[in-house]
Amino acid sequence: MGIDQSLRRTKEPALSRELLIFVTALMIATLGLFIFLFWPGRFFFSWPQFLFFSFVIFLAENFCIDLPKAGAVSVTFTLILAAIILFGPAMPALASVFGAAIWRDIKKGTHPYRWLFNGSQYALTTGATGLAYVAAGGPMLISLNRPFVVNDFPMVLFPITVAIVTFFLSNTILVSTAIGLAEDMPPFSVWLVNVKWAIPNYFALAPLGLAVAQISMTVGLIGVLLILLPLIVARQTFQVYMRLRDAYLDTVRSLIAALEAKDPYTRGHSERVSRLAQRIGRQLKLKEEHLETLRYAGILHDIGKIGTSRLILRKPGRLTEDEYQKIKLHPEWGALILMEIKFLSKVIPPIFHHHENFDGSGYIDGIAGEEIPLLARILTVADAFDAMTSPRPYREAMPIDVACREMKAFQEIQFDPSIVRALFQAIDYDGGEPDAQKGQLQFDESNV
Ligand SMILES: [Fe+2]
Ligand SMILES: [Fe+2]
Repeated sequence: MGIDQSLRRTKEPALSRELLIFVTALMIATLGLFIFLFWPGRFFFSWPQFLFFSFVIFLAENFCIDLPKAGAVSVTFTLILAAIILFGPAMPALASVFGAAIWRDIKKGTHPYRWLFNGSQYALTTGATGLAYVAAGGPMLISLNRPFVVNDFPMVLFPITVAIVTFFLSNTILVSTAIGLAEDMPPFSVWLVNVKWAIPNYFALAPLGLAVAQISMTVGLIGVLLILLPLIVARQTFQVYMRLRDAYLDTVRSLIAALEAKDPYTRGHSERVSRLAQRIGRQLKLKEEHLETLRYAGILHDIGKIGTSRLILRKPGRLTEDEYQKIKLHPEWGALILMEIKFLSKVIPPIFHHHENFDGSGYIDGIAGEEIPLLARILTVADAFDAMTSPRPYREAMPIDVACREMKAFQEIQFDPSIVRALFQAIDYDGGEPDAQKGQLQFDESNV
């Protein structure tokens, strides 16, 4: 995983004390590592190879793909692995710092704490990978003075696997911890989200690392460039796809902005529902992918109101039956709008059913209980709670404890009681659930 996509994405760097301590500890560890690696006579180092690898790593790192939430995948790993197989740990560790972290960060003018983190993180990851490779009996081709030959296989695959696992763990753990500290998210959740994307990449890119090492031993360093160019072209194609995804999301966000301009009383409602629904989902120990669906479903749940008249949305008094019938169409409209966006297909069921009631008296389909998808039941609870606790044209915002009593009164009727309990846990409300069995919630996730 490339390094600081999401740190870069944090608009205002949250320099918490914990993050500062973490980055300082990494820097001290890096200093210790370099003293060890560059101890005279310990490992190979040469300036021309160092400059060349810094340059190609820099090229690779500038053609990387953004991942959801955090991190990035790039061919940097291929080149670092190749350099380790060729030269051992010292030279690649230093080249990764300059090639991947410093040059790029200076070019982008990022905050010093980011490039200090990126530099240290790369040095430690690459250094640890190189040392693990050597300790597992991996030979350095520069000292063998030949590429691997048939007799070296399969023995050499063991140190290479050790190197891949070390790089993967060190890189993902350090980056996820930093992102978790910077964005106040549990590092383990960040790790889980990214790992799924990262694992296939690591294993796909590792054989290329071996190939790059072999080629540079036979045809020289020019061979590295010949391998790198097609990789960059292939990566560019992926990047076009990822940009398209971002463009879709931007479009959807602007639809939300348009809706909120039309109906000022719902301003911020979508984001708040999204956050609350995710918190409830965490209490229910849902998988990360379902939390991700809740995030988008929350933001988009009322998008269908874009088709409702402004007069109805802004009406200060009670709605007439006819107006109410019109507003009731919004889950359906929402589903229709989002149907066009392939990667948002999972948010459609929760949005379509977010006004179903637990006893079957809701709309669109009038389904009840566990027939209603789990994510929709969560959305219903988050939506109602936010609607009650924020001001409306015809009434003040309800105090939290009054809203909680209301939620409790309507469980079994409008809300799933176990989700109301999860809501209370998420907001630390303990004033009204003597019969709640905390921590005992069980869901069949196939129903989401
Ligand atoms: Fe709604
Ligand atoms: Fe809503």
